[in-house]
Order: sequence, then C-alpha cells, then structure tokens
Amino acid sequence: MFDLIVKGGTLPDGRQADIGIKGATITAIEDLGTAEAGDVIDAAGDLVSPPFVDPHFHMDATLSYGKPRINASGTLLEGIGLWGELKQVMTQDEVVARALDYCDWAASLGLLAIRSHVDTCDDRLLGVEALLHVRDKVKDYIDLQLVAFPQDGFYRDPTARANTLRALDMGVDVVGGIPHFERTMEDGAASVRELCEIAAERGLPVDLHCDETDDPNSRHIETLAYETQRLGLQGRVAGSHLTSMHSMDNYYVSKLLPLIAEAEINAIPNPLINITLQGRHDTYPKRRGLTRVKEMLAMGINVGWGQDCVLDPWYSLGTGDMLDVAFMGLHVAQMTSPEEMKTCFDMVTTHNAKTMGLSNYGLKVGAKASLVVLDAGHPIEAVRSRANRLAVIAKGKVITRSARADAALNLPGRPDKVVRRHRA
Ligand code: FE2
Repeated sequence: MFDLIVKGGTLPDGRQADIGIKGATITAIEDLGTAEAGDVIDAAGDLVSPPFVDPHFHMDATLSYGKPRINASGTLLEGIGLWGELKQVMTQDEVVARALDYCDWAASLGLLAIRSHVDTCDDRLLGVEALLHVRDKVKDYIDLQLVAFPQDGFYRDPTARANTLRALDMGVDVVGGIPHFERTMEDGAASVRELCEIAAERGLPVDLHCDETDDPNSRHIETLAYETQRLGLQGRVAGSHLTSMHSMDNYYVSKLLPLIAEAEINAIPNPLINITLQGRHDTYPKRRGLTRVKEMLAMGINVGWGQDCVLDPWYSLGTGDMLDVAFMGLHVAQMTSPEEMKTCFDMVTTHNAKTMGLSNYGLKVGAKASLVVLDAGHPIEAVRSRANRLAVIAKGKVITRSARADAALNLPGRPDKVVRRHRA
C-alpha cells in the first residue's frame, strides 16, 4: 500500500516505471501492477523527472522591476546602482512578500530547490532577515539555500566584511563574494583567499560571482581553483558566471580548465542574464559573453544553468521556468546535438543538484519524493516545448495538478482533431 503512485511515466534516462511513494520518500521504482495507493497520477506517455534546481538566484531583488525606476542602459553597472537605490527604500515585509510570490511561481513550475544570493551590504541586514524567514516558511516544498553576498565588494564596501560575517553567524548557508568588483585585481584575489578561508573554518560551501566581465584579464577563477586546492574544499566550491573566460586567450584557457577540473569546482553560467548583459561595450563583432560551457563539460567539470534574475534591476523578463533557462543556454552555447540537448535538461536538474550538494535528490528508492510530471515524451521535447507541468510533487505531497493544454481544431479543409499542442 502506497500513499501515492505515479503510474506509467517515462524517466529522463528512457526507462518506463511506476513510482511508489510512502510519506515523503520514494519507496519503489518498478512495475507496480495493481498495487493500491491513496492516490494515483496517470503519467502514461509523460516524462517524469526529479524537480528542477536553480543554483543561482537573487531572491531579495526579484519581482521588483520598475522600483524605483527602470534600468535605462540595461547594463550590469546601472543595475547594481539601481539596486542600491531600491535598498534605501525597501522594507522587510516587502522583500518577504516578493520572495514568497516568487516561490509560488517556482513551486508551480516544479522548481523545488533554489540557491539564492542575499546582499550583505546593508547594516540592517534587512534582506538577510527576510530571506531567513522565507527559507523557513517554504521548507516543506522548496529547499532554499542562502549565500552571503557582499554585492558592493567584500573590501570595497566599508562594512561589507563585518556584515557578511554577521550574516553567516545568523545562519546563512554559503559564503559568497564578487572579486571582479573589488577596487583592484589584487584586492579581488585577496577577497577570494579570505572568503575561502572563512568557508574552510566554518565548514561551509563557497559560491562566488566570479569574473562576470568581458575583461580577458579578469582571472579570479584561477585564484578560486588554487585556494580550493590549498584549503581542501574540493567539490564544495562554485564559480558563478565566469564570463571573462569567453574572451580569454585560448592557450591560457587550455591551462585553466584542468585546474578547475582538478579543484572540482562547479560552474554556473546564467544564459538569460549573460546574453543580455555582456558585450555591452563592444561594437561589432559583439561578444556574447557566455562562458565556455561545452569545453568545461568535455573536461568533466560539473556545469549547470542558473536563472540569476526574474523581473529585477538587472533583467526585465523571466518566469522562474528552468526550461526557459535550458532553452536559452542550449542556443547560446550551440549545444544542438541530441546528446548535448539532453545534457541541457540534465544541467537544470541533476547537475545543479550536485552543485547545491542536495542529499536524497533524484528518482531512486530512498530519495525524497519530489518530482515533476511533464507534458513531453522525453527531456529534449521538454526543453523544446518548455513543456507544461501536469503535476508537481514536493516531499510526497501533490502541490499542483493541471490538465493538458490540448486544442480542439475545427479548420476549413482540415479534418476535425484534437492537437496536443506541444507534442511532435
Ligand atoms: Fe548573480
């Protein structure tokens, strides 16, 4: 007897199996025949996937588009300035309300694990308090990890260092930083060193905004790989963005990639944001600014797509749908072979789960019963059509169920039929 059976679905690896759930745990993945259950979801012909995972987001800024004004130039630097203006006027209740609204969107789309940076350059730590509250509030359906992120520079902002340490004392999960925004390359490298030492002392992971610039000489990822090795942090460190790598000398990159692989650094490109923010100072040819995704994957580096922003000072669009992120990443990185397109799906599920260090993730007996039923036959079709979510199950609970978006067609000269809109 199960509490819930998801019947007849196709798993991302192509297997067909029923999934039996008891409480908050997957207890069977096999043909369950006529086994009884409190509830059954018919997933025959549908893709059943572990939930989507976003390893890079800014939940303190989300859904604030237009407040107090719009980013006119569309650049990263105006976005940072605009965020500084918003921080002066926002309230804790407002941050909580926006974050919870975003978590509603995320849950409805099967996005059930999110790593969000939270700005620590604020003596009140208003955003930190707000997101710690939200982390607790959503814990039954979303695993929310918080990164202490000194947006205005760990050294460049006079109180950022102290406030970042305070945020970690308050229970923020991950050490963040922004070395390319420090005053000098030397300060940037020093910040990487100290932030990694703080993480080693406290037993925490590291996730830095690293080299988010078009400057081919911005090479903090090299320092991050070195410090990761020196302090024994292998597997616990992520480099977010890494866009300078797009513009680096090829010979240098041939030395750099093995160092990143050796340090087991997880890479997080954010294609929606980097395709809009990078190359803004170029005329033509205009660099596209995405890091070297295929080359890192070929080196065995764990790479996963991040969302970064939805409706905030840096990005005026976004839905919270990780399939949008995978779709954009596939295009910008030109990952068009069948294997590469499938990898793009894996990058927003299993690869990102590895980056976040999620335990009990995935479709396996004993794992947490969190999964998504998609109106698609396989992962590539899910990315192509940004498939509807037919059901989302979080820790054993069905949190949303929707009907298929079929269209009944009655066209002159065509036979009447029902079209399953996104199926090929
Ligand atoms: Fe970011």
